[in-house]
Amino acid sequence: MKPALGVCYYPEHWPEDIWPQDARRMVEAGLTWVRIGEFAWSRLEPAPGHYEFGWLDRAIAVLGKAGLRVVLGTPTATPPRWMIARHPDMLAVDAQGRLRKFGSRRHYCFSHRGYLEDCKRIVTLLAERYGRNPHVAAWQTDNEYGCHDTTLSYSDAARGAFRDWLGQKYQSPDMLNRAWGNVFWSMEYRSFDEIDLPNLTVTEPNPAHVMDFRRFASDQVVTFNRAQVDILRRNTDAPIAHNYMGRVTEFDHFKLGADLDIASWDSYPIGFLSDRLEASAAHKAAFLRQGDPDFQAFHHDLYRAAGRGRWWVMEQQPGPVNWAPYNPAPLPGMVRLWTWEAFAHGAEAVCYFRWRQAPFAQEQMHAGLLRPDSADAPGLNEARETAHELTKLPDIGCRDGDVALVFDYESAWAWDTQPQGADFDYFRLVFAWYRALRRLGLNVDILPPDTGDLSRWKLVLAPGLFTLSPDLRAAVSSCPGTVLFGPRANSKTGDFTIPDPLPPGLPGLDARVTRVESLPPGVIMDLEGGGGFVHWVEDVEGTAPVMLRRADGQAALVGNGPVAYLAGWPQEDTLHAILYNLCNTHRIETLDLPDALRKRDTDTLRFWFNHGAHPIVWNGQEIPAAGVVWKVRAER
Ligand code: GAL
Repeated sequence: MKPALGVCYYPEHWPEDIWPQDARRMVEAGLTWVRIGEFAWSRLEPAPGHYEFGWLDRAIAVLGKAGLRVVLGTPTATPPRWMIARHPDMLAVDAQGRLRKFGSRRHYCFSHRGYLEDCKRIVTLLAERYGRNPHVAAWQTDNEYGCHDTTLSYSDAARGAFRDWLGQKYQSPDMLNRAWGNVFWSMEYRSFDEIDLPNLTVTEPNPAHVMDFRRFASDQVVTFNRAQVDILRRNTDAPIAHNYMGRVTEFDHFKLGADLDIASWDSYPIGFLSDRLEASAAHKAAFLRQGDPDFQAFHHDLYRAAGRGRWWVMEQQPGPVNWAPYNPAPLPGMVRLWTWEAFAHGAEAVCYFRWRQAPFAQEQMHAGLLRPDSADAPGLNEARETAHELTKLPDIGCRDGDVALVFDYESAWAWDTQPQGADFDYFRLVFAWYRALRRLGLNVDILPPDTGDLSRWKLVLAPGLFTLSPDLRAAVSSCPGTVLFGPRANSKTGDFTIPDPLPPGLPGLDARVTRVESLPPGVIMDLEGGGGFVHWVEDVEGTAPVMLRRADGQAALVGNGPVAYLAGWPQEDTLHAILYNLCNTHRIETLDLPDALRKRDTDTLRFWFNHGAHPIVWNGQEIPAAGVVWKVRAER
């Protein structure tokens, strides 16, 4: 299938007489998808039970007749003001106990039953009305679950639902007390009704309590989404998607994705670089107008997994955004590069956010493909150019990764709950390993933590995994090469206790972590022969062969067979060297790419992306600044 381009459009923001012209210009630019509707509740139901679908009927007809396929969003991320009057207790509450009020968006608590019923009502009406509309070719549920820190809510509704959830899980308070270790500090409960949410405690709450709250909160998002999907499925055969965000780890996207047909995400590379990435000032300066070279790719690969192969970019940055501390414009070429990068990772569609820059309200400083005065903005030319290039290309296809990396949302919650070192962050750890693989020029597949078959990859990495699932444990022997686990892997039981025998407890590897240390910034634990550990170091005992030692003689890397364990957080070059050696052992071909240059193979093509601000000459070929080049692959 050929990938396609699209755009996010808000017909309710513009006079109706310019819709036909907008639609025509979209088609002329080579766009084929248009996403609409996801924030329009106050225009669909201006007063409770008073519906106005006429304008949406007409908008869909205008767009459809122009030749566009519509993605219709459910409007549940923005309940109108009257909804709050109807359900004053539907607002979320933050960890400090403050109400998160009306006046922006995502102002609801996932646990509020009354709000959920109203969501089902509006989704039912939309699904019945548009489910068979020939122009509505896909659906989006809600908008960016979890964005603006909205997964966790400490409301009364959440507390009640949490108690029910715990009752289901533990059956008796005794079982819960035992699982959480509540004998400690006399935290024992006699009834589920005594259990509160784990905020506003005097000092840190029990990590087992927090962990269950995190699991509960994630399940609430999954349940909320499923209610919408169930209604849509009864009324339409069109695929259903949700648009995830970058570096949002508060709910399990694999579990939510299991109910959807397509995973999609919203890619804002320059905003993310300044807002969501630990990197040196020099790195941020070098990629100021391009975004980080690996951050988008990581999410492409992650969401390809969450979508079981089917994924889109639902929103693509087209110019400066409005929400980062500073908002530079992309270098000329980057909008095209980001789009091609998504296609090279298997995206079915890339939709730009948004069509015309809004002159009013919160996002008036956010670029669109059109300026507020409707003239072309620079992003539109790059979209047009990409659309033109697409028509000339054969099927791009998507190719399996050379190597795989496990990503686990529970682990993110676990180390957030008990970091033990102030800067130990699961995403940061896994992303560093991802970057190292990309620097080696490899295609990476990201795997969920319950993957049951590793036979396709000669190298599988699993740093920081909170617990090893039974499926993954059983799958280790199916890997034809090495599964390399990293610091903190399998270091807790599901109940958030230290296992005995001591971790990592990996199949076929006699190794026990007997002590861990976290290190403040700037402290390096040297390794024999150069390199070092930072942030986190572990002492390991056991008979597993030692492949690498610390300068103080302790084991750093153990295991030389199908399972290996790295007992620390490696510096960038150290990790590069370790992974390079493993690839060599298993005859996985590698490169040593400069920071700005990245490679991606598809079934038919080899892509080179220069994320840098200067041209790069690689193998005799010049790749322009902010440029992408491709070649038909000789070997398949
Ligand atoms: C996304 C969101 C859009 C818009 C955009 C601005 O997070 O889904 O509605 O706000 O950011 O960059």
